[in-house]
Amino acid sequence: MDLEQVVKGRRSIRRFLDKEVPLESVMKAISLACWAPNGGNFQSWKFFVVTNRGVIDRMADTLQEKMDLMAEWPEVGEFGETFQRYRRNACFFRQAPVVIGVAYGDYQSAADRVLRRRGETDQAAREMLNNRAAAASRVQTIAGAIQTMLLGLQNEGLGACWMVGPMLVRGQLEEILGVPKEMGLYALVPVGYPETVPDPAPRKPMSEVVTVLD
Ligand SMILES: Cc1cc2nc3c(=O)[nH]c(=O)nc-3n(C[C@H](O)[C@H](O)[C@H](O)COP(=O)(O)O)c2cc1C
Repeated sequence: MDLEQVVKGRRSIRRFLDKEVPLESVMKAISLACWAPNGGNFQSWKFFVVTNRGVIDRMADTLQEKMDLMAEWPEVGEFGETFQRYRRNACFFRQAPVVIGVAYGDYQSAADRVLRRRGETDQAAREMLNNRAAAASRVQTIAGAIQTMLLGLQNEGLGACWMVGPMLVRGQLEEILGVPKEMGLYALVPVGYPETVPDPAPRKPMSEVVTVLD
């Protein structure tokens, strides 16, 4: 497939057919994800592929419980219908045949180690460390891997959705998935054959998103 067609043809899929997903297809997409650029080439990513219905249900129940709790808070009032929609849809991944948890190790580059040590006594080093943390290499690395995996899944005829919403219950999901203590979970990606493919979400014009400094 032509690259432009692949990139523009990818949609976030939130409704899935009740059809088994071949594990080889998922593995192929993950193996592509592992070719994504990554900070320092540490490749400290880990993919938790869940097909067990009980585990998927536990993740969804855990999230739903917190969404229901939030719905009772008076602060939700002003967001009315928007929040209720969010609450209704938050756990759509329950219906997916496969859910992938994407985690990353809490590695520290040499620069981070130097700055951390130096930062105990030096304000300039602390500022540099904060700057690095604000543009966390770990998060950017995992994002590149997720997008590459999404394109790989699409190439296998599968639909998927990048989900950060469930990180509301991140600690509990890490426990359910058995994510090692030194790692962190960043997203859930439900996967399945699309029941429907929605129309493309509109994109902003180039003039709005590009600044050329010449
Ligand atoms: C970082 C990130 C977090 C997202 N989290 C969610 C989510 O929690 N739930 C959801 O339904 N979609 C989520 N999405 C999907 C976006 O809503 C979707 O990509 C966007 O609306 C554009 O639609 P498209 O992917 O079909 O082009 C997320 C996407 C990204 C990149």
